Amino acid sequence: HEVTWSAEAAEKGGYPHFMLKEIYEQPKAIHDTVQIYLNKDGSVNFKDLGWTEDCFDDIDHILITACGTAYHAGLVAKHYIERFVRIPVSVEIASEYRYSNPLTTSKTLCIVVSQSGETIDTLAALKEAKRLGAKSLAVTNSISSSIARESDNVIYTMAGPEIAVASTKAYTTQLVALLLLALYMGQLRKTVKPELVKEITDALKDLPKQIEKVLKENDYMAEVAERLIKAHDIFYLGRSIDYAIAMEGALKLKEVSYIHAEAYAAGELKHGTLALITEDTPVIAVATQDNVSSKMYSNIEEVRARGAEVLGIGYEDDAEIGKYTTETVRIPRVDPFIAPILSVIPMQLLAYYTSIKRGNNVDKPRNLAKSVTVE
Ligand code: G6P
Repeated sequence: HEVTWSAEAAEKGGYPHFMLKEIYEQPKAIHDTVQIYLNKDGSVNFKDLGWTEDCFDDIDHILITACGTAYHAGLVAKHYIERFVRIPVSVEIASEYRYSNPLTTSKTLCIVVSQSGETIDTLAALKEAKRLGAKSLAVTNSISSSIARESDNVIYTMAGPEIAVASTKAYTTQLVALLLLALYMGQLRKTVKPELVKEITDALKDLPKQIEKVLKENDYMAEVAERLIKAHDIFYLGRSIDYAIAMEGALKLKEVSYIHAEAYAAGELKHGTLALITEDTPVIAVATQDNVSSKMYSNIEEVRARGAEVLGIGYEDDAEIGKYTTETVRIPRVDPFIAPILSVIPMQLLAYYTSIKRGNNVDKPRNLAKSVTVE
């Protein structure tokens, strides 16, 4: 009688791959990240930062810099911070920022986002921002990492170890931490009403349950993946925050399936690449931002008219979206600021299943490293 399990299999906790295990760990990772930063009354608490009401009086610009998936979290955070803190935010790829002769000053708050805390480009960007006088804050998953040590302040995501190269639970916990941070800064600056903070933090407490619901789409996403494996190009469309999520969805697919994917701001298609849309280019269309949903539906019609099949990602009570898409995967109705944390999950599953159905090494895709510590 042979022993059929290995230490590695045991580490995967019954899942065939780390990526799938980590996708399924998101309810817990998010619960853990939310609960450490909340007060009983529903307000947000990052008291370890030692920030005071007037500490943003001297800040006229917030810079977010990061690489890869963490950069995509930064793109979402720009929406959060500008909405709740009312200070302009720019988001820069770290390897671009550091060589751009940047306009950073002592009135800049530089936020770096890094799962590993060891990415050399992000670390160098942080050092450059500090050299120019910026105040700094790191959002990382790694206590006592180089980036955590180099920053004036640190907040942690509670994702736990992430082994798969393609980031999943680190990304969604970054979104949660950055949303809480934006609310906290808004609370201090009084640019957001306490009732709204409470509404959103209540919704964040509910989020693990909502994620469990979205994870039930697992088999459906495996079935859609079956139909995507032969595609050469896949387009991901969205507007506003959904555009940032589309970028992350496209990156996930490219990283692990090796199928070319491109994310486009849906309204920009007609100014550029609409000619590339045919019956051979499947489209994933994210539509969770209420202020632009009718615009999004028209964009879906545009690509359908060119023969593309469209998988929509929309709310369960959105009666409209299904009239335009070929098929639709549903997420529970939540605040549009929270929606990205749910809408990315079907895209993670889609990337995972497309990769394994193509026979790829999903946890260690070719040519990629989990943490890039050399330039
Ligand atoms: C590498 C990984 C990506 C990751 C990026 C940033 O390129 O392959 O998945 O998003 O580094 O990593 P960090 O640890 O700084 O978040």
